[in-house]
Amino acid sequence: MDPVRINDLSRALSVERAALLETFGHVIDSGWLVHGPQHAAFEAELAEYVGTSDAVAVASGTDALELALRAAMPAGRDVVVTTANCGGYSATAARRAGFRVRYADIDAETMCIDAASLETQLDASVGVVVVTHLYGRAADVGAVRNVATKHGARVLEDCAQAIGATTGQGRVGSLADVAAFSFYPTKNLGALGDGGAVLTSDPGIATQVRELRQYGWQGKYTVGRDGGRNSRLDELQAAVLRSRLGYLDRDNARRRTVIGAYAAASTDRVRVLPADGPWHVGHLAVVVTEHRDQLREHLTARGIGTDVHYPVPDHRQPAWSAEFVGLSLPVTEWAAQRILSLPVYPGLRDDEVERVCDALATF
Ligand SMILES: Cc1ncc(COP(=O)(O)O)c(C=O)c1O
Repeated sequence: MDPVRINDLSRALSVERAALLETFGHVIDSGWLVHGPQHAAFEAELAEYVGTSDAVAVASGTDALELALRAAMPAGRDVVVTTANCGGYSATAARRAGFRVRYADIDAETMCIDAASLETQLDASVGVVVVTHLYGRAADVGAVRNVATKHGARVLEDCAQAIGATTGQGRVGSLADVAAFSFYPTKNLGALGDGGAVLTSDPGIATQVRELRQYGWQGKYTVGRDGGRNSRLDELQAAVLRSRLGYLDRDNARRRTVIGAYAAASTDRVRVLPADGPWHVGHLAVVVTEHRDQLREHLTARGIGTDVHYPVPDHRQPAWSAEFVGLSLPVTEWAAQRILSLPVYPGLRDDEVERVCDALATF
């Protein structure tokens, strides 16, 4: 029997093949390869979709985090507070920007930042708090903002895993000072390579990121801002993303349906993190279990792929751990031992979902 893979990008690519080739033809015929009409239209359409005044496209999600942090960091501050269970991306970006990193613990139900733990990390040196909408779930940005603003810190939403997630206050990416998105191919809105964007309704932040992504130019060949670099999204990627944005909501709904089926099939030895509303876009189907190794073996024996997002918390990463000796993040460490990701992507077939459900029901 064929394996049920945790993800398979070739499914969507084969369906889209003809449309993609047509899109490439339009871009080639236009003569524009970077910062042309596709790029401008994508920025406008993305900002409208998310609900911000500005979208600034860049070369990756990590670049988006880094440039957003640099633009949002208030003068005289240099500490970023983030969570240690999100794959290390925000820490990588903060460190590249020359900022110090502190960690707050997470909430055991949502796996997102815990506002009470965050409060213990805040002081006058903290300039930005990163709230990551992990696995596709909209985190409680309001609670984070309440705590952060008391201490004069800004809030950055990491939306790499949650594009399209919608709360009563609006879509993720429009709920705080600034937001970073990734269009890495496996993301819910994926490019055919790397890509990212910074979204904000703060014109000062948008202008700074626009300058930083292109050599610090304030006009052509005029470096008005120090510390710039080259971080551009090209026309081909922008064109692909424009087309895929058109069916993002449909794909997100399919992801939710798959996770709902897993939740319905699971025994009480496995807790499927819920994704049963528009506040979740089903980026990853994550279960929490005291029996992770056995569950993984059980699924592997049935040809079902799994992964762990993420096995090593930031403060235990070999490159950084010496700085965090003695730091205890009990919920983060507890979760890292118990989480397991199951297959979920829009092209996953019903018969494959059923195979995963059968395996969960017999565990
Ligand atoms: C939560 C989160 N933030 C940031 C990133 C970084 O994005 P990129 O790979 O585009 O640099 C990713 C994934 O790659 C992610 O999952």
